[in-house]
Amino acid sequence: MTPRANVDCVPCLLYCLSFAILINMEDLKKRISETMSFAITQIAELCSLEQLEGVRVAVLGRKGDFAQIAKMLGTVPPGDRAEIGQLLNDAKRQIESQFQSRKQSLERLQLQERLAQEWVDLTIPVSGVQAGHRHPVTIIQDELEELFMSMGFRVVDGPEIESEYNNFDALNIPAEHPARDMQDTFWLADGHLLRTHTSPVQVRALKKFGPPIRMVAPGRVFRNEEVDASHEHTFYQLEGMMVDRDISVAHLLHFMKALLSSVFGRDVEVRLRPGYFPFVEPGFELDIRCLVCSGVGCPVCKQSGWVELLPCGLVHPHVLQNCGVDPKEWNGFAFGLGLTRLAMMRYRIDDIRLLQSGDLRFLNQF
Ligand code: DAH
Repeated sequence: MTPRANVDCVPCLLYCLSFAILINMEDLKKRISETMSFAITQIAELCSLEQLEGVRVAVLGRKGDFAQIAKMLGTVPPGDRAEIGQLLNDAKRQIESQFQSRKQSLERLQLQERLAQEWVDLTIPVSGVQAGHRHPVTIIQDELEELFMSMGFRVVDGPEIESEYNNFDALNIPAEHPARDMQDTFWLADGHLLRTHTSPVQVRALKKFGPPIRMVAPGRVFRNEEVDASHEHTFYQLEGMMVDRDISVAHLLHFMKALLSSVFGRDVEVRLRPGYFPFVEPGFELDIRCLVCSGVGCPVCKQSGWVELLPCGLVHPHVLQNCGVDPKEWNGFAFGLGLTRLAMMRYRIDDIRLLQSGDLRFLNQF
């Protein structure tokens, strides 16, 4: 009886089993479709890349929902596995593609936001920024270099830190010579000094190039002295020298006049008086009528109406000798132009301190 009963029960068991499998199939399909619609809604709604990635891992990751569902495939009858497998793969592919396109659009959005923040319109005219320009002393220096080059002079450079020999001895100013007191000197600890004038460049150029020579040497010079409206510790000079055969005071005057009429664009009143400089013989002071006050008297001309502008003379034979040049064969003239003072005359600046002040209200006038 019992076996029979058992045999009778087989169809029922099969029915029950297939029902269970049926439920399982439907359940699986339902889970797949629910998971998919959950994932797709999430993907569409989320706005951060991190959250998006979180959903992707939760659904498609190795331990994600679909991995769990895939494990259940084993309970599906072999005949139906293909269908469920297909369903699963389609769902995954769909989610993956939704995920990728959402990710791309989020990335694009982020980039746009970043660009909007960083965006700068380079074509907008800049306001409040002024272009720089040359300093008044530089303007004059450039002009004079041009002028002298057009007259066959070369422009020579020399160091601001000089030897005592080049600054003094070679220029016929030995130690203990009272002329050393004319120029208060900044001495360096090693015995060098800040050049007190551009004249040492004469020595360097004469030694280097030899005669015949025409040279100018513009540059910064330093004096250890009290600063006031007409004195600075740092200022600019332009040294000039011509050494050749049979040079006379007439040559000197010719070039000095060319220089002055070029700088002022007109004839200026000048006077020549004897002046003492150890490196020239004879030596002169070439003064010009003060252009700041038109000769009436002001702080720049020390109320005298005249400004010392161009000390000059014929190169002393000792200087030529010191530079290895035979004074019997060669002679020349030299001058030391106060570039800073010339700028003050030309632009009618009545206080030398303004030139180094860095004050833009002053500088922007040029
Ligand atoms: N070196 C002189 C100074 O600074 C200026 C000077 C005077 C230069 C006469 C010269 C010159 O070449 O001949 O005071």
